[in-house]
Amino acid sequence: FAASYNTLSGETPLVIAHRGASGYLPEHTLAAYELAIKMGADIVEPDLQTTKDGVLIAMHDSTLNRTTDVESVLGMRNGGYKVSDYTYAEIQQLTVEPASSTASTSYAGYTPSMADPFKVPTFAEVMAFVNAHNSAASDDIGIYPEAKTPNSTAMNQQILNEMKAAGFDAPEDHAILQTFSHEGARELAELQALMGMDNTIAALGYARLTADGFGLLDATTNTISLLSDLALFADGLGVSLSGSAMNADFIKAAHDLGMTVHGWTFNKSDRDAAYAQYEQWVDAGMDGIFTNYTDLAVDYLAER
Ligand code: G3P
Ligand code: CA
Repeated sequence: FAASYNTLSGETPLVIAHRGASGYLPEHTLAAYELAIKMGADIVEPDLQTTKDGVLIAMHDSTLNRTTDVESVLGMRNGGYKVSDYTYAEIQQLTVEPASSTASTSYAGYTPSMADPFKVPTFAEVMAFVNAHNSAASDDIGIYPEAKTPNSTAMNQQILNEMKAAGFDAPEDHAILQTFSHEGARELAELQALMGMDNTIAALGYARLTADGFGLLDATTNTISLLSDLALFADGLGVSLSGSAMNADFIKAAHDLGMTVHGWTFNKSDRDAAYAQYEQWVDAGMDGIFTNYTDLAVDYLAER
């Protein structure tokens, strides 16, 4: 007996490895992505920042000090640790360290396949890693890059150029482009169309109910975009679980406009608590789960 789902497609929700298996290993490292893939993730999420010399790297913060040993290796620049003040060659010297209370530098039963598992990877390296996995395995892992804001036109264009070069340019490649800037998401859709690319586009934000219907708060501009306006260019929404109007009706409104809803962040490490949260949102029709604990989401869906 197969479970049925209230997702837009009617298929099983996607398990999205949020920053890799970041509940277990240092986030945004090849090891965290590899462990997530071994645990059964459908798609892995690199956030993207740009170095001083214009290299796209997988990193959440616009600064290096929360997740790496930059303080001891390179020291402070211009009063801070901004990614944009360091070259890629310098960032290559750093080691990514566990930054969450449950993450560690090892995971029982897992041995990284790469020589330097906790270096800061470039976006190109993450895509090459996913491609190498996909050519060697029967499953097909996708990639879910986030253009961290402020994402200039140049950054958006570079992301698309690198994706095209790596072969992520059509729906069957399972790539989803996301950003908190709704204007940035619209631009990504426009630019990729000019390049003959057709990746899925997702706008991020916080669910709101307005007099004109459901909307999504763009926290970069503090404005609310109506879902009906987002549907003109977006295929999906990445939505905080904490938004004031985040509920089954919001998800249904998105579905009625042909858009999927992926929720973030599922960060409960306790199995019972995680399962209860998955159940609530999968019942509500959620199409994808951004989780730090890949294995718990995979197990939940298998047992549902
Ligand atoms: O991209 C969805 C989710 O990851 C947004 O939150 O801050 O973890 O990138 P953040
Ligand atoms: Ca993200």
